[in-house]
Amino acid sequence: MRLFVDSANMDEIRTAASWGVLSGVTTNPTLLAKEDPTIDVRERLLEIHRLVGGHISVEVLSTDTAGMLREAEDIISWLPEAVIKIPMIPEGMAAVRELTRQGIPTNVTLVFSPAQAIIAANAGASFVSVFLGRLDDIGSDGLRVLSDICEIWERQGMESEIIAASLRHPMHLVEAARHGSDIATAPFRVLQQAMKHPLTDLGLQSFLADYRRLQEEQTRARQASLVP
Ligand code: G3P
Repeated sequence: MRLFVDSANMDEIRTAASWGVLSGVTTNPTLLAKEDPTIDVRERLLEIHRLVGGHISVEVLSTDTAGMLREAEDIISWLPEAVIKIPMIPEGMAAVRELTRQGIPTNVTLVFSPAQAIIAANAGASFVSVFLGRLDDIGSDGLRVLSDICEIWERQGMESEIIAASLRHPMHLVEAARHGSDIATAPFRVLQQAMKHPLTDLGLQSFLADYRRLQEEQTRARQASLVP
């Protein structure tokens, strides 16, 4: 399972990219709106792509098919590697079908059920983003939905890649991998948490302390042997 960071924040993306574990970045209008209000969105997206390379999902804002296609054409003109993120609505499916015909990759977003995932795949979506955390937030079971989708994909040989999105904690990431998700896009905080384990920190502290003690003992032994 590949890892993307779900962020539009340069400090977060720079740090996550420096770890060497990222295969891409997903953004959405909410993540961009959290940044400085003077942000130049186009410049930010280009900067993200220069830094990380790989996958970059850029979401359209139109809710009609023609508007989505116009936006997609514009985005591709300045960021040819972009994957166009399209909402899971009928107008969006028509846009996905047309973009697929043109050979432009798409990421269908705001998918909350297996039925929606099957529809998106049939429109030709390259990626389908299943939102786990938002389902959990309303008392539903996000991982159950993801595991159903993964099982259907396996059985039917569906080609769209599954992105586990709206992750809230490291176990979402682990379970997404266990169920067979192709990709997990995680907030920076979840990637940080996933990397941490208290036994790693304790283990490292004791390795370093033990080696320091060895060096001190060797220094003392050398000094003692020099004393006549
Ligand atoms: O980018 C899509 C998705 O990951 C959003 O997550 O945290 O707003 O539910 P969230």
